[in-house]
Amino acid sequence: MSKTFAVIGDPIDHSLSPNIHSAAFRELNLDCSYIAYKISKGELKEGIESLKKIKIDGFNVTIPHKIEMMKYLDKTDESCSLIGAVNTVTNTEGILKGYNTDMEGFLDPFKKKNLRVRGTKILLLGAGGAARAIVAGFAKEKAKHITIANRTLEKANNLAQFANTIGLDTKVINIENVENDLGQYNIIVNATSIGLKNETSPISLESMRPKTIVYDIVYLPMNTDFLKKGKEREGIVIYGYEMLLGQAVRAFEIWHNIEAPYNAMKKALLGGV
Ligand code: ATR
Repeated sequence: MSKTFAVIGDPIDHSLSPNIHSAAFRELNLDCSYIAYKISKGELKEGIESLKKIKIDGFNVTIPHKIEMMKYLDKTDESCSLIGAVNTVTNTEGILKGYNTDMEGFLDPFKKKNLRVRGTKILLLGAGGAARAIVAGFAKEKAKHITIANRTLEKANNLAQFANTIGLDTKVINIENVENDLGQYNIIVNATSIGLKNETSPISLESMRPKTIVYDIVYLPMNTDFLKKGKEREGIVIYGYEMLLGQAVRAFEIWHNIEAPYNAMKKALLGGV
């Protein structure tokens, strides 16, 4: 029987998830479709009701619903309840179960490239929903210390508290005050939305050491100014599309219970960028 999946969020027209999942369906000859469905802030409840009406089999959740969606779940898996945010949902006869594949998706490139996280010192820019999954990932891999730099200090403090409870040493600073001492970090992650509209990097990377890992979660454009600056300083670059692919592969496997066709999904993604 044909199955239907979706990604919900706003804005949603730029989403590459339909391309990635449709490519996987084609590759494996699955009778499935995947649509982008715009649900604006404040309309989540009604939006979910309509998805249930059409008997959606599963859906991804993106900005701005990742945290609010928690309220509408009947069940949550461990990753989802630890992180407090959801990006993947299954619908089994009206019972919604939430998962968070962002954390493992974020860690995926480190594993694929054999880059060590254990014992590292990290600078994390941003303190939103995505940053929360990232902090959980770093804690899982036993990073040593994380400095959280954000525009709104209250949000950074909240995230630092969460990081502490899961075993990370933390420090909080204003994103405007990070520029001069980047030599101490092994990994620098941009988890703000700065770059999506082609903005210049949220920080200057001038004081960074060569071989520092620079990781942007913004995936469109692929070459953000932040990553360009990281490359100029001889950093090891991880692109946002690598995390996007990692989370999509895991969502696919949750829904279909078969191994995801990684290469076909990657090809669809890079072709679409
Ligand atoms: P996501 O789910 O992708 O994490 P989010 O929760 O809206 O999205 O978080 C966006 C992040 O980008 C936040 O850390 C936000 O900073 P604030 O907490 O101060 O809002 C950051 N951000 C977005 N636009 C920014 C800007 N122009 N300058 C600095 N930080 C910005």
